[in-house]
Amino acid sequence: MAKTPLKKIIAFYCRFTPSYSAIGYHARRLFWRRIDPDFRGQTWLVTGGSEGIGASAARQAVAAGATVICVARNAAKLKAFAASVTRPEAVQTETADFSLQADVWALVARLEQQGVRIDVVVNNVGIQKRDQIITQEGIETSFATNVLSHYLLLRELLGRNMLRDNATVIEVASGGMYNHAMVVDDLNITGPGYLGVRAYGLAKRAQMMLMAHWRAVFAGTQKSFYAMHPGWVDTASVNRSMPRFVAILKSVLRDHQKGADTIVWLASRRPVQVRPEAIWFDRKERRPHIYAHTPKSTATPPDVVAKLESLVPARGRSEIADLASENSIKV
Ligand SMILES: NC(=O)c1ccc[n+]([C@@H]2O[C@H](COP(=O)([O-])OP(=O)(O)OC[C@H]3O[C@@H](n4cnc5c(N)ncnc54)[C@H](OP(=O)(O)O)[C@@H]3O)[C@@H](O)[C@H]2O)c1
Repeated sequence: MAKTPLKKIIAFYCRFTPSYSAIGYHARRLFWRRIDPDFRGQTWLVTGGSEGIGASAARQAVAAGATVICVARNAAKLKAFAASVTRPEAVQTETADFSLQADVWALVARLEQQGVRIDVVVNNVGIQKRDQIITQEGIETSFATNVLSHYLLLRELLGRNMLRDNATVIEVASGGMYNHAMVVDDLNITGPGYLGVRAYGLAKRAQMMLMAHWRAVFAGTQKSFYAMHPGWVDTASVNRSMPRFVAILKSVLRDHQKGADTIVWLASRRPVQVRPEAIWFDRKERRPHIYAHTPKSTATPPDVVAKLESLVPARGRSEIADLASENSIKV
């Protein structure tokens, strides 16, 4: 594999460290008001909710009065997390592997059977895989986990009317998307040409584009859709997937609470988003492109949706198609 030139690495760290690390958080925080969120009566669904950024968002939601359904693979880790919050009775744990569509379908079916109605969805689960691994369903794992399952979950929750009228949906994306122009055909590379960092970046850009899609479909309703990025956070997955990055920046990485801050802020403030595509970071709407090459892509949110729809079984009951045609969106 070609090595990244040293000059490029230095330019990367000089450009992003002051903003994405805890330094940027502390500097911006000087201008923020306390939020004192009140989530009493709300039900949250947090994927990847047993550790890291998702667990911190779940912890803060519980502390502010919400009931939180936390989803992850490992039941013991979920149980330990539930026991660690201020009100353990407010945490419902659900196991599902988000690299597998079958698990997402089963999760939605369980929640529907329980009559769950959700106020806030935090579609947080995300992984970066250096090696190309194909799931038993024939999909590249990071794409399946980072975006396909997010789409399927949301499509089904929306289509089965399991979200409350004024629900908030938050996709946890990443600044990693900034390097990559959307190429829809490269979203699920199961043959040659896979590069982990690009698969991750494309999935993260797709998450942001999906929020533009759902916002357009649900225009004129009270539902809110956001993509956010947490900055650079010292979590288990970052330690596993980017050990050199952590070794260099350990002392200035954000803690989990700082990484989850914008999630909690978005859920409590539900700000108006100006751009159709945007990513929220440190409580502010940010532009979707920072490099000149990425806006050159002609791919649109409906193109991303069409790609995802080609990989998931046809929908069952759904009110989405009617709403979409009312708002002149192709689904
Ligand atoms: N950390 C950062 O600096 C950073 C930067 C930018 C964006 N992000 C994004 O933030 C999100 C959270 O990342 P994190 O760093 O907080 O991760 P993390 O600390 O590793 O936590 C991952 C969580 O997801 C669960 N999980 C992992 N694989 C799963 C799967 N296949 N199905 C279901 N659950 C799964 C884990 O539990 P189990 O292992 O039990 O399943 C755990 O609860 C991701 O979307 C990531 O891309 C993070």
